Amino acid sequence: MDNIRLGLLGYGTVGSGVAQILEQNTEDIETRTDAKIKIKSVLVRDLTKPRDQHGDFRFTDQSEAVLHDPEIDIIVEVMGGIEPARTYIHEALRHGKNVVTANKDLLALHGEELFEAAKASGKDLYFEASVAGGIPIIAVLKQSLAANRITGLIGIINGTTNYILTAMSNEHRGYQEVLSEAQKLGYAESDPSSDVDGLDAARKLAILASLAFNSRVTLPDVFVEGISHITREDLEYAEELGYTIKLLAIAKHQDEGVEVRVHPAFLPKSHPLASVNGVYNAIFVVGDAVGETMFYGRGAGSLPTGSAVVSDIIQVTRNIQANSTSAISCTCYHNLPVKASQDFTTAYYVRLLVKDEPRVLATLALLFAEANISFASIIQKPRGHEQAEIVLVTHPCRESQLQEALDSVKAYSKVLKVYNVIRFEIGNE
Ligand code: NAP
Ligand code: HSE
Repeated sequence: MDNIRLGLLGYGTVGSGVAQILEQNTEDIETRTDAKIKIKSVLVRDLTKPRDQHGDFRFTDQSEAVLHDPEIDIIVEVMGGIEPARTYIHEALRHGKNVVTANKDLLALHGEELFEAAKASGKDLYFEASVAGGIPIIAVLKQSLAANRITGLIGIINGTTNYILTAMSNEHRGYQEVLSEAQKLGYAESDPSSDVDGLDAARKLAILASLAFNSRVTLPDVFVEGISHITREDLEYAEELGYTIKLLAIAKHQDEGVEVRVHPAFLPKSHPLASVNGVYNAIFVVGDAVGETMFYGRGAGSLPTGSAVVSDIIQVTRNIQANSTSAISCTCYHNLPVKASQDFTTAYYVRLLVKDEPRVLATLALLFAEANISFASIIQKPRGHEQAEIVLVTHPCRESQLQEALDSVKAYSKVLKVYNVIRFEIGNE
């Protein structure tokens, strides 16, 4: 039986989950791999913090004690952030270690550089846990769907925001209260604005789109809008119209290039993603051969994310045993252009407060018509003294047309407030 020694960088939500899984499933993992996989040392910031220790290893606050230890075969980076994680991964590869990471922040910005470094050192760099927690979507895109040309994918890939939107919609609870709960449950990033502003999903989408379309997509390529402007009123209108609002991560491979965007969207209740609730994530992937597929599971949390990290550790162990590390390196062999946001085409929900007077609705129709936009449906409700709330649902139009119409609407004196503008996602890819 082989001995595989691990060095963990970090022992928070994910790191402790990794240790717990290795401890509770030791026998099965040993039998499956014919290897004793043990954590030798763990780097943390604060040695005085009380911790649940799963296994026989030592904590240290000295990075060299882990990165330079000749007995360690695999470094598991579960500390997060860009620095010092980036430097530590380079250092680990230079010292002949294979690396497993859950760090989407790092890969979405510096993936190319890190994969090149892994290739140059002949070592593995695995990253299953970086997207969608426990769902093995990286293996799906790299291997299981490798026969296909992927035409598009839509994901709910941030557990925190899905948890918030589900509780606001189904339990009519307040945004701030539910966010605090998601933080306590270990779902949110250390800075939860990454979740609610859409950046966490955008980082994951950059990783998914790079794999799906074999063309490097980085965080700045992704159009991002978060959920903090979504109100209970919007969720109630969605219900009335037969939709639900989800934070979607959308990637499409089109003739003009790659379209990558993260934003809240009205999704028909009949869409398979509409029933993905709470901390659950799902990714709907369309391939030219396989057709529509969907992958579902817990997108965050200690054990689900630990499951993805440990599966990487097992695969790297097998590669070490077969002397085949670095066999699958960077798969970005295209260099596709990224579509500008003004060219995105979607239908829109526009919610306004207006003066309840003759010709106001007719004028609004005219202002949209001037931008060549027509309406699919209109809802009007009385609001207080001689005011009305109007919800306009447009037919699909380009983002630039919508902006042109909104500029005119905002300048129209009978419009008292533009509450919200939210896109629709209707198609299946
Ligand atoms: P976390 O709970 O905040 O834990 C981070 C750990 O790293 C802590 O043990 C911390 O030490 C240690 N650490 C941080 N900076 C350090 C430094 N400069 N030097 C030494 N140790 C340092 O984070 P997490 O939720 O486990 O997330 C870890 C990674 O997994 C992140 O990249 C995250 O995006 C990713 N991820 C998380 C989830 C999830 O559900 N939480 C899911 C998928 C991916 P102390 O304990 O001493 O503070
Ligand atoms: N904060 C992330 C989420 C953790 O809520 O999805 C998993 O990457």
